[in-house]
Amino acid sequence: MKIMGFKEEINRRRTFGIVSHPDAGKTTLTEKLLLFGGAIQEAGAVKSNKIKKTATSDWMEIEKQRGISVATSVMGFDYNGYKINILDTPGHKDFAEDTYRTLTVVDSVIIVIDAAKGVEEQTRKLMEVCRMRNTPVIVLINKMDRPSQDPFDLLDEVENQLNIHVTPLSWPIGNGNTFQGVYNIFEKKLLLFNPNEKVTDHNSVLFDDVNNEEIRDYIGNSVDQLRSDLELVHGVYPEFDLEEYRSGSTAPVFFGSALNNFGVKELLDCFVQIAPPPQPKQAAERKVDPFEEKFSGIVFKIHANMDPRHRDRIAFVKVVSGTFRRNTNYLHVRHQREMKFPSPTAFMASKKSIIDEAYPGDIVGLHDTGNFKIGDTLTENEILNFKGIPTFSPELFKYVVNTDPMKSKQLAKGLEQLTDEGVAQLFTGTLTNRPIIGTVGALQFEVIQYRLLHEYGASCRFDPIELYKTCWIRCKDKKILDDFKQRKYKNMALDKEGNDLFLADSPYALQMAQDKFPEIEFFFTSEFK
Ligand code: G4P
Repeated sequence: MKIMGFKEEINRRRTFGIVSHPDAGKTTLTEKLLLFGGAIQEAGAVKSNKIKKTATSDWMEIEKQRGISVATSVMGFDYNGYKINILDTPGHKDFAEDTYRTLTVVDSVIIVIDAAKGVEEQTRKLMEVCRMRNTPVIVLINKMDRPSQDPFDLLDEVENQLNIHVTPLSWPIGNGNTFQGVYNIFEKKLLLFNPNEKVTDHNSVLFDDVNNEEIRDYIGNSVDQLRSDLELVHGVYPEFDLEEYRSGSTAPVFFGSALNNFGVKELLDCFVQIAPPPQPKQAAERKVDPFEEKFSGIVFKIHANMDPRHRDRIAFVKVVSGTFRRNTNYLHVRHQREMKFPSPTAFMASKKSIIDEAYPGDIVGLHDTGNFKIGDTLTENEILNFKGIPTFSPELFKYVVNTDPMKSKQLAKGLEQLTDEGVAQLFTGTLTNRPIIGTVGALQFEVIQYRLLHEYGASCRFDPIELYKTCWIRCKDKKILDDFKQRKYKNMALDKEGNDLFLADSPYALQMAQDKFPEIEFFFTSEFK
């Protein structure tokens, strides 16, 4: 007998990602959240799976760790009746594209910022990705136990650099050595910090009114500063507005210290209340609502097995609508073929288990032998193509040169499959007909070379190519487009789907092309398609 209805199951789900510039405290926060959910028993469990910063040049090590991290790709747990799914996003910048893709299937995001460093480069980039679909974000300003920037300055920085309004929902009292705690504006209570003590309910005190003189007993004369700060906060920042947050225009901000587990429970308690449940998703054909009865889902990540004897992979599917069921026939839309899955897995904390059912917001791992590529849709017979797993213009480019003529088929197949997995992007130069690999990080070239050899028996080398950026181009006027392609024939390429790409060899060349051909639209993600 069903204990909970389909609607309740959807409404209690919160599927989100945590992002940060490396070192701001994403892993630490994830771990503390899992501790609250009872999903792990001890600190260190997530940490041990993290890609170690010291190993940046040793990609084998990184891949090994990525192999282990399959289990932590999705961390599901129950908390106060909510089902929480944290989707892991690699912090390593060479795997940024994995992160971008994951962000396209989350319903909200928590951004962690280091209170001493403020907004950093990776945070800005990730925020741009959130902005593409107005994903609601909550900001945690972390490491308040360390000397920090002024909280007002930090809020200004978030507003200006991340281009979003802010509403502080907690306020710090001091920082570093003088850090005494935070005033939780959302719940109107004082939370006291003691670096040597685990946070329990005992050190939070309810105060409806900060003018209550009893606060002085807890934080001494800091109360004067707190009061004047809060007065300013109320004067400058708008009250929290759920709609503003959910539409992605205002970010609620919390202050805390993830390492000390301070302010994390408050963040989580607020998060489950305000963060959106699974949202509708746009397909090329129509918008799909999670509450629809029929199942649909999208593949957003493919993880290769590290064992070279088994060239199998796990495709991660986000359930968009309906109930996913084990051993049931679903339509693989791109292949126009029915498929069923005898052993779909769900991810609860660091454990994988076979499941019979999954609901919108859940992530299901499907065993794959090369049928899937990123962006694929599964449905109950309807033709749907979900939008919104964009390909981003890569930053590094190289020609692929086959070094074993006997293995050209294997090389082609390997390149096709690895790029389906999203390891890198594959283009073909129009003039040269040579394959070009584009990546976000340098490590991917090594990954590709190694995997081609070990999984496909193909060997290759990479030749340099002078390229600044690739961009997809489009123009309503076919004549102008053809003229452009003809003039720039040396700099044209096709992507895997046959879309036209302009290969700009310098920022100047790109600017020139844009100036000379104002009718042509230049796109830096494939989202326009
Ligand atoms: P990341 O995933 O965003 O890259 O960051 P991570 O959680 O790994 O945190 C980076 C470093 O910052 C870690 O120290 C971590 O212990 C520390 N840290 C995280 N939150 C806080 C906080 O609230 N206060 C203070 N003072 N430090 C914090 P590390 O020395 O690099 O790693 P470890 O050796 O401690 O594991």
